[in-house]
Amino acid sequence: MREFNEKSITQAVIERLSQSDDPRFKKVMTSLVTHLHDFVRDVRLTEEEWIGAIQFLTDVGKTCTEKRQEFILLSDTLGVSVLVITLNHPAEQGSAESTVLGPFYWEGAPDLPRGSNLAVGVKGEPAFYSGRVLSADGRPLENALLDIWSGDGDGDYDMQIPGETGMKARGRIRTDAQGRYWFRSIRPTFYPVPTDGPVGRMLRKMGRHPYRPGHIHMIVSAQNHRPVTTHLFVAGSQYLDSDAVFGMKESLVAQFDRHPPGTGPDGERVEVPFYTVNYDFRLRPAGPP
Ligand code: BEZ
Ligand code: FE
Repeated sequence: MREFNEKSITQAVIERLSQSDDPRFKKVMTSLVTHLHDFVRDVRLTEEEWIGAIQFLTDVGKTCTEKRQEFILLSDTLGVSVLVITLNHPAEQGSAESTVLGPFYWEGAPDLPRGSNLAVGVKGEPAFYSGRVLSADGRPLENALLDIWSGDGDGDYDMQIPGETGMKARGRIRTDAQGRYWFRSIRPTFYPVPTDGPVGRMLRKMGRHPYRPGHIHMIVSAQNHRPVTTHLFVAGSQYLDSDAVFGMKESLVAQFDRHPPGTGPDGERVEVPFYTVNYDFRLRPAGPP
């Protein structure tokens, strides 16, 4: 017979992992149990709080659907997602930094010619994006792929707009022989992460706002290079200092220069003020970090 007290229980649970034949799993679970037990002891968790936490996680699970992943949102808003990204893709001088993928990526965006307007029929101020994709040592990468998506000028992604079934403000553009890309879209604005579920309740209880600063998403990839899941943030956007998912990186903040109505960089007349932005992405060679 063996019973446990509030200290010995931790070692007892860890010992039950002795038959596991997966050393990495053993290491992760040992640490998880140690930290979880330390946390419970540290705050002297009450039974009401324990059942409240179970209820909360149950609600998080029930909120998940084909189109919504509330657990990832929980991870994002607690800073876990960006911590995992930062550990696995450490910033390296000069190369494009990674940040969160977010819940609005939709695989299979159309392949479009350079210069295309990704935001036909999308609300928002026009913005012309250009730049290059380069290797870490500055060589232009031809045929690099930019898989691009953003919300509209109100901060809504196509998937969030009732009745909208098709892709909007999305597209895949490839670089030319000089590593150059260019396309038209809109200047993104700040928007809230979904707040109508348990994570929203958690944020309100924490006294936090739910907003992300204006940004456009991209996954940039090229042969023999490490792909990067990243954003361009709009310089001067509200909430750059308090991104609800902690994904803001200074190196990804880009200047959006405003122009009066006139001829856009594509030679077409633009009847409203428009923006231009230029940003080069440097990719690290494939292989271990
Ligand atoms: C986004 O940028 O699309 C996003 C990222 C994390 C949580 C919610 C939204
Ligand atoms: Fe986003």
